[in-house]
Amino acid sequence: MSSVYLNGEIIPHSQAKISAFDRGFLFADGIYEVVPIYNGMPFLFTAHMQRLDRSLREVGIPQTLNHADWRAIIEQLNSTEPLENSVLYIQITRGSEFPRNHLPSANLAPTVMATLSPFTPPVGVADAVKVALLEDIRWLRCDIKSVSLLGNIMLKQQAQALGAVEPILHRAGRITEGASSNYFVVRDGALYTAPNDALILPGITREHVLKLAREHGIEVHEKAFSVAELYTANECFLCSSTREIMPVAYVDEHQIGNGQVGPITQMLIDLFRQSRPNCA
Ligand code: PDD
Repeated sequence: MSSVYLNGEIIPHSQAKISAFDRGFLFADGIYEVVPIYNGMPFLFTAHMQRLDRSLREVGIPQTLNHADWRAIIEQLNSTEPLENSVLYIQITRGSEFPRNHLPSANLAPTVMATLSPFTPPVGVADAVKVALLEDIRWLRCDIKSVSLLGNIMLKQQAQALGAVEPILHRAGRITEGASSNYFVVRDGALYTAPNDALILPGITREHVLKLAREHGIEVHEKAFSVAELYTANECFLCSSTREIMPVAYVDEHQIGNGQVGPITQMLIDLFRQSRPNCA
């Protein structure tokens, strides 16, 4: 039976209920976090927890659970629902109150929910995919992992309609990120990715890829790159906790490099797979 952690209890999905006046439902007033779990082991756990803490701080929702509490919750969920590999979704809203008011009352009790979903980590040959260049229509605090994902969803739908697996977003010609991923390009042997500012989510996979690249002598630049620089890149890939590293062959009809998985991308895929906890 699938279980969910909700406000201190582990209960079956069918019994998990929250108020119709929850501010997450009324205002998307909440944040979330996504942690991949390989063989029961959360990957890059501390980094994910620190980003969760930061999201809470930035929107002023109190932190009611510490990192040890989250480890215990993961263990409990794992034991009620043993999945070989899974993804932990943590959703925290500011809480519920009536009457409805944009401005929240002080001292609301946050609604805290967590579930495990099945996850199939990529194995074997990575295929290069097509992405679609779209204008980044989202708000200007994309560094917060907010549950308010309407812009991301609309952009994902547009990309899908164009036959692409993910959008690659730009603001006035400057590449930001995807709708649920960060992007890298390779130019003349060096790796480029957009800097960590308010226009992108500080991806945990992005940070891990940067670390692997630095450790293995690849030159890295956290520096904005343009659409023109994307089109003329030698290699391009996207990354996220659930997709790991996904090579990009096409941006719309523009072929990137020779349209194959490039050598630096392949090297990073290999390094990434070696670094993740053992999984089948
Ligand atoms: N999304 N940018 C955005 C907008 C994202 O939503 C995500 C992750 C990333 C990559 O971050 P990370 O490497 O920490 O997963 C970048 C997750 C997977 C999601 O929303 O399900």
